[in-house]
Amino acid sequence: MSQVFHDIEKKIIASLKDNSKQTPETLEESTKLSPDQIRRGIEWLKLKDLAIVDESKKSVYSLGKNGIESLQKGLPERRLLDLLKDGPRNLSDLQKELGAVFGPAMGLSKKNNWIEAPSGQISLKNPPSEIPGEKILSQIGSGKVSERNIDKNDLLVLLKRPDFIIEDVIKTKEISLTDSAKSINLSESSGAIDVEAKVPEVFVARTHPLKDTIDEIREIFVTLGFSEIIGNITQSSFWNFDALFTPQDHPARELQDTFYLDGVMAKKIATPEQIRKVSASHKKNWRYYWDINEARKMVLRTHTTCVTIKHLAENKPDEARVFSLGRVFRNEKVSYKHLIEFNQIEGVVVGKNATLRDLMGIQREFYKRIGITKIKFWPTFFPYTEPSLQTMVYNERLGKWVELFGMGIFRPEVTKPLGITKPVLAWGGGIERIAMLKYDLDDVREFYNNNLSWLRSATKCQ
Ligand code: PHE
Repeated sequence: MSQVFHDIEKKIIASLKDNSKQTPETLEESTKLSPDQIRRGIEWLKLKDLAIVDESKKSVYSLGKNGIESLQKGLPERRLLDLLKDGPRNLSDLQKELGAVFGPAMGLSKKNNWIEAPSGQISLKNPPSEIPGEKILSQIGSGKVSERNIDKNDLLVLLKRPDFIIEDVIKTKEISLTDSAKSINLSESSGAIDVEAKVPEVFVARTHPLKDTIDEIREIFVTLGFSEIIGNITQSSFWNFDALFTPQDHPARELQDTFYLDGVMAKKIATPEQIRKVSASHKKNWRYYWDINEARKMVLRTHTTCVTIKHLAENKPDEARVFSLGRVFRNEKVSYKHLIEFNQIEGVVVGKNATLRDLMGIQREFYKRIGITKIKFWPTFFPYTEPSLQTMVYNERLGKWVELFGMGIFRPEVTKPLGITKPVLAWGGGIERIAMLKYDLDDVREFYNNNLSWLRSATKCQ
């Protein structure tokens, strides 16, 4: 079977057959391909073991500030020696004539025994015919010279001195064909791209399917005109339960349902007015002794509704569309549909004319956008909403209806004590449940199993 090559590969191979060692730049010239095409073509050929890339570095040199000055006037020490040609001179005269380079010129000349200075008079002693560095200086001249044709020792002398010589390291790539590439007969290879050819499987880094679902949900609510609010993962029982009109002896508050922070009590849970009015609402409507210490107990939030209610209490909006998204915790037995730690999406619409019908409409729209169409609404109970509904959606995989979002209109017992005067439509539910439907899973634990083969195969676009 003849191999199939891309046009780019063919051009590169042909050019390398004519001229066996080339840089990407010469290949560009000979093939008339763009730098990017050359780069890609070389990568392809390398992967197929058809091309070898040799990378090497070489230095080129040019003159720095002091080098250029020395090229024109001579090295400092040369200038000093020249001044002494016609006999001894005194130190201050030389200093005047040489200026800034006097010091280095004197130092070097003395060290090398080229001069002697018995009493303020400087004279020649053993002047050299050629000073180290002079040759390289004229070689480099004003142009650039490469490593190969340079006297190393001479170069080193000037490289050590400041600003005489500038070294630039240039990286080069040399491309050549492997033996198997040399025997390729290009006229036999077909020009078409074999779209069914096997490619190596590549496992690139990718986001987790659950994270994708979270991002998608966030995107949907933002597109629907909602803004995101965020709150703490640990909350006082006051905001997680009391402010939501959940009585202090409600079963949801028990240790087997809720994670408490062992012995941690919130100092300041709310404003005195909020505490007074919320507790009054409990006392009046549930008729029991409301205990502030119960409200101070810190919990891992059991739902995101605490974030919603706190936001509403702090802002008392007449109109709002907000959502929050994040982890919640329930002390429950883990099963195919329950985790102790999972994600919730929660939203509210506040508005003077907001109705239950609007609430159901928003749900339908959201489900449609996420790709869920088989849904129904079912009455249910939450301490903080009236009426209360839940959405049931059909999970084809499980072959049954599963509950998804809880929702309702906040009761006046919740809103009034906190100064919220307009109707609040609220809903919330588990994100993993939605992701299960999207990824056609029958066990929610799969999201946390780190099962690589599933993670790699889960399709990105549903
Ligand atoms: N907090 C409820 C839950 O966790 C959902 C809900 C939110 C219900 C808002 C009504 C209103 O299931």
